[in-house]
Amino acid sequence: MNQITLTRPDDWHLHFRDDQFLLETVPATARCFGRAIVMPNLVPPVVNAEQALAYRQRIQQATPKGSPFTPLMTLYLTNQTSAEDIIEAKQAGIPAAKLYPAGATTNSDAAVKGIEALYPVFETMSEQGMLLLIHGEVTDAHIDIFDREKAFIDTHLRQIHQRFPELKIVFEHITTADAADFVLDASDTMAATITPQHLMYNRNDLLVGGIRPHNYCLPVLKRNTHQQRLRDVVASGSNKFFLGTDSAPHAKHTKENACGCAGCYSAWSAIELYAQIFDDLGALDKLEGFAAHYGADYYGVARNKDTITLRNEPWTVPEMIDLPQGGQIVPFYAGQELQWKLA
Ligand code: NCD
Ligand code: ZN
Ligand code: ZN
Repeated sequence: MNQITLTRPDDWHLHFRDDQFLLETVPATARCFGRAIVMPNLVPPVVNAEQALAYRQRIQQATPKGSPFTPLMTLYLTNQTSAEDIIEAKQAGIPAAKLYPAGATTNSDAAVKGIEALYPVFETMSEQGMLLLIHGEVTDAHIDIFDREKAFIDTHLRQIHQRFPELKIVFEHITTADAADFVLDASDTMAATITPQHLMYNRNDLLVGGIRPHNYCLPVLKRNTHQQRLRDVVASGSNKFFLGTDSAPHAKHTKENACGCAGCYSAWSAIELYAQIFDDLGALDKLEGFAAHYGADYYGVARNKDTITLRNEPWTVPEMIDLPQGGQIVPFYAGQELQWKLA
């Protein structure tokens, strides 16, 4: 096959950051995605409709002229989030709110301690039809980092889903067979996003032959059996799993560091990485559903009307990206060859 044409895809989980970073990150995503769910973990976080709309405006200012790209905004849940915050946000067209357990990931210090305390907020979200997006990892010091996603399912996620069966939940960036099987067994108000790195890599790619900080993200890469299960579920064409890159830029010096930041910046090669993965799986016919249909269907919005085309044309991901404000980012898959290229 020399080329494939699909409905324009959407990215249901990414990080644009703010200010000067937007001049880099927004064009990268707008080059191919119709919409993106923009994560709210700025410093300070985006906690109400007013802040989300102001952030959306900054993103729109950084969107290349004539691009059809539309950012979809999210609220960052804290222990101070009120029912009014949710209602106001929903009325302002904000489709989702994000739950970060405090300390779980980049810029999560302001986040939720004691998830049960948020149940009244979940109740309002359920009534309002606002989606709950979850970074699903416990943060207890005694729980091994490779077990934190499974522990989150057992201690929180199953209960939240049971208690609020109508509340649409997206289990973000899943990394384990446990998460994939939990989502498959759950009702149709539970779905998940999967990143390119968790489909392409396992923890050997992080740790064998030297530590590779540019493959470090959270939840951390798991063993190959988990990777294989994620590959199986996307190849199966299940509509409970859809595209969310978790593209998360960090300056080079903050990743190549004695205490390196978590996050992989994949926006410039995102759809090409997924195409390669589905091609390797012999499942290119399942790419369109995953990338362009199931996410929109789950969020309850129309699928994009236009298309993109990918050509079978090898190219190499750049080693480095220069930031407009100075400084550099090493993109995910830097210096490596991909077989598919956006036309
Ligand atoms: C994300 C970031 O850098 O904001 N990092 C990551 O490793 N995934 C945060 C997140 O999605 O958890
Ligand atoms: Zn996360
Ligand atoms: Zn993320």
